[in-house]
Amino acid sequence: MIKPIIVGNWKLNGTKKRIKKFSKLLSLFLTQHNFKGTIAISLPVIYSYIIKNLSIFKKKKIFLSAQNVDNHTLGSFTGEISPNMLYDMMIKYVIIGHSERRFNHQETNYIVANKFRLLKKENLIPILCIGETEQEKKDNKIKEICVKQIDTIFNMCGIHAFDNSIIAYEPIWAIGSHNSANPLKAQFVAQFIRQYINSKLNYKIKNFFIQYGGSVTKNNILELMSQKDIDGFLIGKASLKITEFIKILELINI
Ligand code: PGA
Repeated sequence: MIKPIIVGNWKLNGTKKRIKKFSKLLSLFLTQHNFKGTIAISLPVIYSYIIKNLSIFKKKKIFLSAQNVDNHTLGSFTGEISPNMLYDMMIKYVIIGHSERRFNHQETNYIVANKFRLLKKENLIPILCIGETEQEKKDNKIKEICVKQIDTIFNMCGIHAFDNSIIAYEPIWAIGSHNSANPLKAQFVAQFIRQYINSKLNYKIKNFFIQYGGSVTKNNILELMSQKDIDGFLIGKASLKITEFIKILELINI
């Protein structure tokens, strides 16, 4: 892993006060250390301005990510935020297809693919979450599930879909469970995803990265990051605790 992409996913957590404190300590860390990878923070989008005001944001030492986007660009969709609004707010990455949205908001592969398409149109970088449930793992369907989720994107967006994009392999059973995937198994799936994407192309893909997500902590980061096909991490719970998040960044930066 040469230049890892680390995204902290805050989900429905945080207050103005807590995020300001987090930003201050993260700023200090990034000013004192030459972090070799890319860091993005996916806050509840209304708090993005806190990161935007930081000098480390202006110096491009940190980027903004969003946790969701609507699959329309304009119109009567009360409560939604469009891709161009995110772009306008200087957001660079957008998480889509997270299992929490697939389950709680009935987002199908088709809806996710449409979001992917709209993000690419707006030059935003999709972080497409894919992965299997516990039952699908037991039924030996990991590859099948990943292929289905990837193919819907290829079918809607064409052969170049995954240029400038990220796939986060997040086994659903590992999310928020204290039970991360075994690093070798995560590597096996990440390698499969990379090979599958490449097998569809007749050119060398550009700026395509594979993250692992699901109970990443300071205790398992070293083993996970040593896996060849894992280019970064989507970190939930451990990104909420600034000391743990900074420890993870320190370990990654060794
Ligand atoms: P977790 O969440 O690190 O708390 O497991 C990861 C995610 O949901 O993206």
